[in-house]
Amino acid sequence: MNRKLLYNLLALMVLFSLVFSACAAPATEEPAAPAEEPVATEEPAAPVEEPEMLAGLECAPNCQYSDLVVGFLQTGSEGGWRAANTASFKETAEQLGVTLKFYDSQNDLAKQVAGFHQFIQDPEVNVIVLAALETTGWEEVLKEAQDAGKIVVLEDRRIDAPEDLYFTYIGSDFAEEGRKAADEMCKLLEGSESKKVWELVGNVGSSAAKDRGQGFREKMGECGIEIVNSQTANWSITEGKQVTEAWLKESKDVQGIFAQNDEMGLGAIEALKEAGLVPGVDVKILSVDATAGAFKAMLDGDLNVTVECNPLLAPQVYEAALKAANGEELPKWVPSQEGVFRSDDPNLQEIADGRKY
Ligand code: AHR
Repeated sequence: MNRKLLYNLLALMVLFSLVFSACAAPATEEPAAPAEEPVATEEPAAPVEEPEMLAGLECAPNCQYSDLVVGFLQTGSEGGWRAANTASFKETAEQLGVTLKFYDSQNDLAKQVAGFHQFIQDPEVNVIVLAALETTGWEEVLKEAQDAGKIVVLEDRRIDAPEDLYFTYIGSDFAEEGRKAADEMCKLLEGSESKKVWELVGNVGSSAAKDRGQGFREKMGECGIEIVNSQTANWSITEGKQVTEAWLKESKDVQGIFAQNDEMGLGAIEALKEAGLVPGVDVKILSVDATAGAFKAMLDGDLNVTVECNPLLAPQVYEAALKAANGEELPKWVPSQEGVFRSDDPNLQEIADGRKY
């Protein structure tokens, strides 16, 4: 091998070893990018939510019943239930020392709204209690009442309005009453091939009529009840009788009557008797309220069932108003506890004797 060739060979070997060592060298780790310092944002911190405190009256937190001047907007005087409800407000006000200003809306919505305005403008009135004739149309007056610093409590009837416009609603679960009514009618018509029912409806725009009707319909399908006639009789015994008479002229093929209150049921009973039918036997009758009149009809065997709707709401309503006056809170609905009474109850007379209305 000549010298030149040897040098070339050596140079090649050096070059090769350099390239090889470069390739085999462990990869150096890229220096980690310096961790970015968290940048303080300019956004203001979210405000800490304070629990909502109600204003209450000037006497808060030591208001007494004697500080309350209540303007009560009653629906009217359509029957036994309403009479018991009105008496509850008057008697309880006296017992507690609440000043009560009573307004009879005579079942006229325009009159009830006018009465509401009257109480808003009355500087003495600090609490307004509303038994609403209709579910809708209250937002404006409720806002006015709020602006005037009046406490509003709903009694008996719920309304369709934002909950922040009134303090609370104290009253029945009318839909549940309707569901109970359907369950009871199913029991009464058990074994009957045909289950045709007539429905006597209360004031159509009221929560009591709407929700009882809805509750009944939710359950009636479970035993095949069919509502073949449904019409308002405005909570009245006279209209209950008239509507039933008109239906009887068309057909007597009916197995049950669901009257949304006792009065309308009592009217239907009269109409059936005059048409030669035996109420409670030929046609099963079920009503709602559980007034003294209904107990008498059950003891006479004319009425089969009454679903209770409690009218003695004043103690709870005044207590709620006092809480509002003192800046306390309550749930938006305090439902009443209610039962069902049947004509075949062996203790019926005793139960009737122990009732207040
Ligand atoms: O809101 C309650 C209803 O109003 C009662 O069932 C009815 O009799 C009344 O007048």
